Amino acid sequence: MRIAFVGKGGSGKTTLSALFTRHLAGSGAPVLAIDGDINQHLAEALGQDDGPLGAPPLGAHLDEIKDLLRGTNPRIPSREAMIKTTPPGTGSRLLRLLGDDELHARHVRRVGEVPMMATGEFDESDLGVACYHSKLGGVELYLNHLVDGPGEYVVVDMTAGADAFASGLFTRFDMTFLVAEPTRKGVSVYRQYRDHAREFGIRVAVVGNKVTGEDDLLFLKEHVGDDLLTHLVHSPWVRSAEQGRTEGGLDTLEPHNRHALTILREAVDAHPRDWATHHRHAVEFHLRNARAWADKATGLDLAAQVDPDFVPGPAALA
Ligand SMILES: Nc1ncnc2c1ncn2[C@@H]1O[C@H](COP(=O)(O)OP(=O)(O)OP(=O)(O)O)[C@@H](O)[C@H]1O
Ligand SMILES: [Mg+2]
Repeated sequence: MRIAFVGKGGSGKTTLSALFTRHLAGSGAPVLAIDGDINQHLAEALGQDDGPLGAPPLGAHLDEIKDLLRGTNPRIPSREAMIKTTPPGTGSRLLRLLGDDELHARHVRRVGEVPMMATGEFDESDLGVACYHSKLGGVELYLNHLVDGPGEYVVVDMTAGADAFASGLFTRFDMTFLVAEPTRKGVSVYRQYRDHAREFGIRVAVVGNKVTGEDDLLFLKEHVGDDLLTHLVHSPWVRSAEQGRTEGGLDTLEPHNRHALTILREAVDAHPRDWATHHRHAVEFHLRNARAWADKATGLDLAAQVDPDFVPGPAALA
C-alpha cells in the first residue's frame, strides 16, 4: 500500500510521515519511508543525527534505475526512451518491497527502525533544464515497478502545495493524506487537491494537524466536512523529539495522537488496491504526458511503450 502525505508548506507532512512510518514499523509491518521532497527533512524527523543518509538519492542514479527497470522490455529499447511515466510491460523488471535488488541495495538505509530512501535535492544542474520536478522522476519510476502487497507500506513525504500534481506521481498512491492546519490557507490547499483528485479518481482524506481546541476542530469540520478523517493535536512530544529527547519512543506520544495514527492505518487498509485500475491510471497519465510534451522531447511515439495486455501485480511478478 502506498501512502502520500501532502499539504501546505509547514503543515506537518514530514512530521506525520515520520510518525506514521514509525507507527507501522513498530507494529512489525514491512515499511519504506521515502523523502519525496526536494528539501530533505524526513531523515531528521525519523531521528537521524545531522549528516548524510549514507545512501545516494534516487535522483543521482536515474539512468541506472531506468536500465534496471526496463529490463528486457522490447518496447523500451534504451534509457533515453524511458520517461518517468513509462509503464511497465512484459520484460520489465518488477520489484518487491525491500527486495534483494540493486535499487534497494544502493538507495535504502535504515534510520532507527525505519528503512528509507530519498528523491534528491534540487541543485544547480537542474536550473533551466528539463522540468523542475526531474528529480521526482525516480520515485515515480520506482512506484510504477513496485509490486507491494496488503500489509506492506510505502510512505512518501511529498513537496508542498499542489505542485505534486505536476507529475503523474499523485496517481500512484492508494491513499493521499492531506495534512491541514486549522487555518484558511491550510484548507485552501485541500480544495485544490480535492478537485484534481476527483478528476483522476484518487482517494484523499484530510488529516487535521496542530489542533489546539474545540474551535480548531469546528473550523476544520466546517471547511472540510466528511473528508476530515481524523486530526492530531498540537504535540509537545513532537517538539521534544526535535530537541533530541524521545525516550520511550512512540509509546510516549500523546494518546490522542497515537490513536489518530491507528485511524490512518485503518483507512489505508480498508481499500486494497485494484491493480487493473491502478495500472490504467498510469497508462492514461503516460499517454497524456506523451501528447503534451514527451513525444516531442524524445522524438519518439511513446504511446507504443504501452503493452496492451500487461497488468503489473503479484501474477506478473511470478
Ligand atoms: N502535531 C504537531 N504538534 C506540534 N508541532 C508540530 C506538529 N506537527 C508539526 N509540527 C511542527 O511544525 C513544523 C512544521 O512541520 P513539518 O516540517 O512536518 O511540516 P512540512 O509540511 O513537512 O513542512 P515543509 O512544507 O517545509 O516540508 C515543525 O517544526 C514541526 O515540529
Ligand atoms: Mg517537509
